[in-house]
Amino acid sequence: LRDGPLKGKRILITSGPTHEPIDPVRYIANRSSGAQGTAIANALAALGADVVFVTGPADAARPRGVEIVEVQSAREMLEAVETALPADAAVFAAAVADWRVASASDSKIKKDGMGKLPVLEFAENPDILATVSQMKAGRPGLVVGFAAETDDVVAHATAKRERKQCDWIVANDVSPETGIMGGSENQVVVISDQGAEAWPRMGKDQVAKRLAAEISTALQE
Ligand code: C5P
Repeated sequence: LRDGPLKGKRILITSGPTHEPIDPVRYIANRSSGAQGTAIANALAALGADVVFVTGPADAARPRGVEIVEVQSAREMLEAVETALPADAAVFAAAVADWRVASASDSKIKKDGMGKLPVLEFAENPDILATVSQMKAGRPGLVVGFAAETDDVVAHATAKRERKQCDWIVANDVSPETGIMGGSENQVVVISDQGAEAWPRMGKDQVAKRLAAEISTALQE
């Protein structure tokens, strides 16, 4: 066991995008780099936690000194999360695809040569954060979700916290003029049953460190 205030605590993190298959060679994805989730995993490991890092196919270098579970799709991510539980805390930083292709083709979809276009039908993916938040048995003691918003950040994130029933929501404004998406800085509002706390703008690594410290404090209580 590692030393530090989180020694002996098991913490699950989801991170990165998911890839939803269209056929064996094509997929639908999003632009999540996995940077913030990776920084949080590193910060929690530095405090001595046993971290399980469930990641979609992200560009970011994998965190060090943690257990890594690689998945592709949202449904695989949910399965990996359920396998990794129980945990003392869970942080859901992944950008999970809301929809998957309803019936992905087993073989590569071909052009028919007559100009007929394929039509994709979608099905809704499971909401991993809501599923874990609403577990009747074995729910982690602290469940943290994220919310990327472009307007009315606090109102939308507060509603999201209530709808999903997580303990904290880390919300940020990803409007293009903030330069946050794809940048190295972040400005977040942390919403809990204590209300909304706006943190100053700081590096994503600093956000990760402060969040890890607050998780540590919450788990000691
Ligand atoms: O509803 P929205 O996607 O904005 O919620 C964001 C939060 O929910 C993030 O913590 C994200 O990881 C989580 N989420 C999830 N499974 C989904 C969709 C979102 O765990 N299918």
